Amino acid sequence: MNRFPNNFMWGASTSAYQFEGAAHLDGKKSSQQDIINKLNEEKYGFANAEITSDHYHHFKEDVKLMKEMGLNAYRFSISWPRVLPDGTGKVNEKGLQFYNDLIDELIRNKIEPIVTLYHYDCPYELVKKYGGWLNRQIIYDFEEYCRLVIHAFKDKVKYWTTINEQGIIVQFWTKKCLIDEKDQKNDQLRYQINHHMNLAHAIACNLVHELVPGGLVGPVTGYSPVYPASNRPEDVLAAMNAHDLRNTFYLDIWFKGQYHKAAMTYLEKQGLAPKIKEGDMELIQKSKSDFLAINYYRSDCACASQDTDQLRFMGINLTGEKGKIDGYETHPGFYKMCKNDKLETTQWDWAIDPTGLEYLLRDIYTRYQIPLIITENGIGARDILTDDFKIHDDYRIDYMREHIRHIRNAIDYGVEVLGYCPWSAFDVLSTTNGYEKRYGLIYVDRTNQDIKECKRYRKDSSYWYEKIIKSKGELLDE
Ligand code: BG6
Repeated sequence: MNRFPNNFMWGASTSAYQFEGAAHLDGKKSSQQDIINKLNEEKYGFANAEITSDHYHHFKEDVKLMKEMGLNAYRFSISWPRVLPDGTGKVNEKGLQFYNDLIDELIRNKIEPIVTLYHYDCPYELVKKYGGWLNRQIIYDFEEYCRLVIHAFKDKVKYWTTINEQGIIVQFWTKKCLIDEKDQKNDQLRYQINHHMNLAHAIACNLVHELVPGGLVGPVTGYSPVYPASNRPEDVLAAMNAHDLRNTFYLDIWFKGQYHKAAMTYLEKQGLAPKIKEGDMELIQKSKSDFLAINYYRSDCACASQDTDQLRFMGINLTGEKGKIDGYETHPGFYKMCKNDKLETTQWDWAIDPTGLEYLLRDIYTRYQIPLIITENGIGARDILTDDFKIHDDYRIDYMREHIRHIRNAIDYGVEVLGYCPWSAFDVLSTTNGYEKRYGLIYVDRTNQDIKECKRYRKDSSYWYEKIIKSKGELLDE
């Protein structure tokens, strides 16, 4: 196949708190991300979430630029505290109006809206009231929020995604959720949050099917295939363990309605398993996801771990200097993540692996036989705005070209891929590195400290992507 299917969605992605700004304007109250990013500002000097890329005031110009790039889809999220500032109860009409105007503008420009219901920004009022996702009450409040927005946009939005990257939330929970210090040592709560999210996801799927004529809904997974560090059987087994706990554990619950046996057994042994109430599994089994949205940036690598190793959920490089990762995720006796010395990395130590994308698309499709859509994929870099307002991001073009080629291969092998939405349409506030690390196809002129006017400039990658979209992928091999 040279050309991608005619109905292939060529899009790009953002999320509300990383892009909109207007964090306390027109009735919006704080989300937990407003608080978390205020702390990041104090601790690391990164930008806070107050203005970010100011999309709230630039949305018409932004849709125009998307149109110029040739996008026929745009994946974004709705901010819960913008439409329900207290999390429940009184609706903020101005908030709903903003999304209504944005969606209308997209539709006028023939850009398919793909809406994510939750991208890390739980209303702060619910965190103060009962601890946010730690408390089962959130399932019912999330239902109220979902009913409100799904009903409001049911005639305009066909594609819905529920919760962004539950697996990443488990790993990086204090970055994605505001967790009280007294709870931070209780790792079981990570999986309890995830269980609440599974229930919330099931309810959101039911609501889309109930309210949206012809509506389709699916979860968003942050997915990295896990390779064994060597051909030692112990490493191969460790890679399978990591794959089960980080990937299949989530996919099985969404698409088979059950917790993965081996992963759950491991969690039970460690005292990390979630408490499941009567009726929970029935609710999960009765809901249906229509497709899987995949965020893919990197593959990972695992090796055997000793029982005496220290439990650790994440490793992160906050400096942007290669090799300065602060450690590796370790589950004692189960697996330990490590560097894959066969792959190049970004400045932040994320392995660059386009083949991994084909591998996971084929693997997931074979196991679950569901349509797939890529809702995030991209390279974080320190882009440079030249004196003549250009951004020569060849590395991003290389990254995207290779990843899209591998999507094409997967389609050739029979995988149903609905679309490709790279991260990100515009530069946004990185979840871990402020504005130092940029992913956008379009540059937003601001820094961590200086907000300037947030002017938009098209990067070289956006012109390249435009060509690829116009040729339906044919020019990939040019
Ligand atoms: C994904 C998230 O995990 O990774 C995005 O869905 C995030 O919200 C992206 O921005 C890149 O991560 P980071 O930390 O480099 O911004």
